[in-house]
Amino acid sequence: MKKKKPDLLPIRIYGDKTLRKTAEPVSDITLEIREFIDDLVYTMYEKDGVGLAAPQVGRSLRVFVVDPFWFREGGEKNPRVLVNPKFLEFEGQVESEEGCLSLPEIYETVMRAKKATIEGLNENGENVHYEAEGLFARALQHENDHLDGILFTDKVPKLKKILLRKKLNELKSTTDENGFNIGKH
Ligand code: NI
Repeated sequence: MKKKKPDLLPIRIYGDKTLRKTAEPVSDITLEIREFIDDLVYTMYEKDGVGLAAPQVGRSLRVFVVDPFWFREGGEKNPRVLVNPKFLEFEGQVESEEGCLSLPEIYETVMRAKKATIEGLNENGENVHYEAEGLFARALQHENDHLDGILFTDKVPKLKKILLRKKLNELKSTTDENGFNIGKH
């Protein structure tokens, strides 16, 4: 069966309840899942992201995509897909600024492991293993957090969080009674 063309998926914004759920493992990489991954990759690039996790488009599944350098390497795209990922090792600590497509216009400094080793499956169900550092390691940790309902703003020190609260509440104000939030349109 031929795969469909990828769709641009609406991104859930802070306040959306799917962003706070613990995502479910993928039991079988079906054609539907592969098409969904294509949509996820397409949406990440369309929105100028370096990573996108399934809960950010309203699907509570343990899937994310990252491509930390495509905008730096002359636009060459190299998406890495992780299905049911698991970290094996962390090394060191480093602070750097992060943002998130689900938290528009919010940028904060977050402490992460400097190096991270992860394994999982790709979109074809093959085992993948990455020993990452720098922005790649950071993106893996940020995206994997989405699978556990964790947002980077949760990792901001308490004092800074007080200053952040107003911005977060503004984002949250667009959430409907079902906990669905794709922001202001
Ligand atoms: Ni994010």
